[in-house]
Amino acid sequence: MIGRLNHLAIAVPDLEAAADQYRNALGAKVGEPQDEPDHGVTVVFIELPNTKIELLYPLGENSPITSFLEKNPAGGMHHVCYEVDDIIQARDHLVETGARVLGNGEPKIGAHGKPVLFLHPRDFNGCLVELEQV
Ligand code: CO
Repeated sequence: MIGRLNHLAIAVPDLEAAADQYRNALGAKVGEPQDEPDHGVTVVFIELPNTKIELLYPLGENSPITSFLEKNPAGGMHHVCYEVDDIIQARDHLVETGARVLGNGEPKIGAHGKPVLFLHPRDFNGCLVELEQV
C-alpha cells in the first residue's frame, strides 16, 4: 500500500543553524522556511536525490514540536512520511488493522498542498508515521 519515502522529518532547536548546516556543511539544496500555522510548525525542506528532509521548528503556542524539543533538547528524528495513492482508503484499512489516526481522523492539507494524516507512534514501533496522498 505505501509507496515512496516522501520525507524524513527532524525537529530542530535552531532552524537557521540547522538549515545552514545542511546547506554549507552537508552541501544540500535547502529551501526557504515556510510557516504552517495549521500544523504549528515552521518547516524547511531539503531536497536530496532520492527523498527530502523536513526540518521542523515550533510555530505558535500549541506546537507539537515544543514538547518534543523539551524531551529532546538537541533535536531528533520526528516522523517518517510515506506516500499513498488514496489516503482515505489507506486510513480505513489501517483503522481496520487497529492503528490509531491522530487528531479527528480526517486528512489535513500538508506542507506540499496535499492531504496528510498522522498515525500514532505507539502503533508503529515508536515512530510517528505521516501518510501523504500524492
Ligand atoms: Co512531514
